[in-house]
Amino acid sequence: MKNIAVFASGSGSNFQAILDAVNEGSLQANVKLLVCDRPGAYVIERAEQNSIPYFVFSAKDFPNKEAFELRILQELKNEDIEYLVLAGYMRLVSLTLLAEYTGHIVNIHPSLLPSFPGKDAIGQALEAQANKSGVTIHFVDEGMDTGPIIAQQTIEIDYNETRKSLQDKIQNIEHQLYPVILQKLLTCQ
Ligand code: GRF
Repeated sequence: MKNIAVFASGSGSNFQAILDAVNEGSLQANVKLLVCDRPGAYVIERAEQNSIPYFVFSAKDFPNKEAFELRILQELKNEDIEYLVLAGYMRLVSLTLLAEYTGHIVNIHPSLLPSFPGKDAIGQALEAQANKSGVTIHFVDEGMDTGPIIAQQTIEIDYNETRKSLQDKIQNIEHQLYPVILQKLLTCQ
């Protein structure tokens, strides 16, 4: 089984979906570490509740991105991490991590990339009055949501869609799709 680290900054509902899939046996992976850049984020509580070790940091405690990524790298090496699973990690990953984990970093994004990359993809879709959106899982490169696409799932946006209803639809898909795609990825390489 592959050793994975999940990177998250917020509530961690995708992290929870991954843990649930591991616990029920549909995802075969060792979730060995949570990396979080926001002290106080709810995802840390989820790690505690599930006895998953975590590394939490504040970027402001480091002189630059290279410095905190080197520190993360040390944590990843200590745990023999093979794959990085970004799940709501609100930062671009730089070459410090990419060079060590090329092709082994994945991300989930709440739109049909290349449409609506970056922050607030759900708001962007509503603003654009798009009639569909969805979820994309992709490999991570240096760009903002630009890496090769692994899987996508489309949803219709209804005429009376609200931010809340669209977010709920998208998150429901994310929670099902991410564990399924991770299982394929981690067991075929
Ligand atoms: C998800 O919608 C994911 O697509 C995006 O950030 C959100 C994280 O949500 N990258 P959560 O913290 O997993 O609830």
